[in-house]
Amino acid sequence: MADPQLTPQQEIAILKQQLAAAQRMAALGELTGTTTHEFNNVLTTIVNYAKLGLRHKDEPTRDKALDRILKAAQRAERITNSVLGMARNRKEEFAPTDVAKLIEESLVLLEREMTKYRVAVTKDFADAPPVRAIGNQIQQVLLNLMTNARQAMANGGQLTLRIAHDAQAGLVDLTIRDTGPGIPRDKLPRIFDRYYTTKSGPDATGKGGSGVGLSTCRDIVEAHQGRLRVESAVGKGTAFTIRLPVWVESESSVTQPHAPVAKLGVPTA
Ligand SMILES: Nc1ncnc2c1ncn2[C@@H]1O[C@H](COP(=O)(O)OP(=O)(O)OP(=O)(O)O)[C@@H](O)[C@H]1O
Ligand SMILES: [Mg+2]
Repeated sequence: MADPQLTPQQEIAILKQQLAAAQRMAALGELTGTTTHEFNNVLTTIVNYAKLGLRHKDEPTRDKALDRILKAAQRAERITNSVLGMARNRKEEFAPTDVAKLIEESLVLLEREMTKYRVAVTKDFADAPPVRAIGNQIQQVLLNLMTNARQAMANGGQLTLRIAHDAQAGLVDLTIRDTGPGIPRDKLPRIFDRYYTTKSGPDATGKGGSGVGLSTCRDIVEAHQGRLRVESAVGKGTAFTIRLPVWVESESSVTQPHAPVAKLGVPTA
């Protein structure tokens, strides 16, 4: 219900935050399917190597089995940490944020999907200082953009994740580039419109088709005083760039201006 204390602009800002929160929960729901599957694979690996180790008494085989078990368990750990990180009611506050870590955490959640759709991932990370961000929300943007990129490459392709630092301007750029079909020039202005979609519905992974992904990404990036840009060439591919301001140490989250942030996430038990 409309609150007479709020200006229309404040109300729009709050509604945008609420939509972003709902989109995050939807994205998390979609990820649950993928990660459960992934978890099952990890368990299969553990069970099979444990059996191998029990069957063969010689030391090299047992060492190999234990090594594979350890690696699988560590992978499981990374997956749960990433999902929990997304779901947890982390502080919804601007903080110094390591973008490379955010990209890695997002990638862990989509790795299996990328392999399944034959998408090769290349990382091109320059050293960059922490940015001023709400980590959870930028991770949501990354997951949306990476999922779009994967969906654009139905028959496989190349996903390039790039970090660049413009020290002079005090900005960090994160680029998500795909080798998909690209977006025709006349469609380009519409892709950030809410509900604009060219997908007929969720794909086999349960993702896509509601047309809220990119509009949410733009809202989040703008609330970060950043910019989200797109470049696309038909037949070559598409690149989205998130530009974020570097964290400045003298500023504190109290003095840094930011839009009102709605309470996000699942209740913490
Ligand atoms: N990397 C890309 N390559 C080609 N087209 C893209 C790419 N990213 C987005 N698009 C186009 O922009 C449209 C809008 O994207 P958006 O993420 O907002 O919605 P969606 O993916 O269709 O649905 P969802 O809300 O579930 O994400 C897509 O339907 C697609 O036509
Ligand atoms: Mg999308």
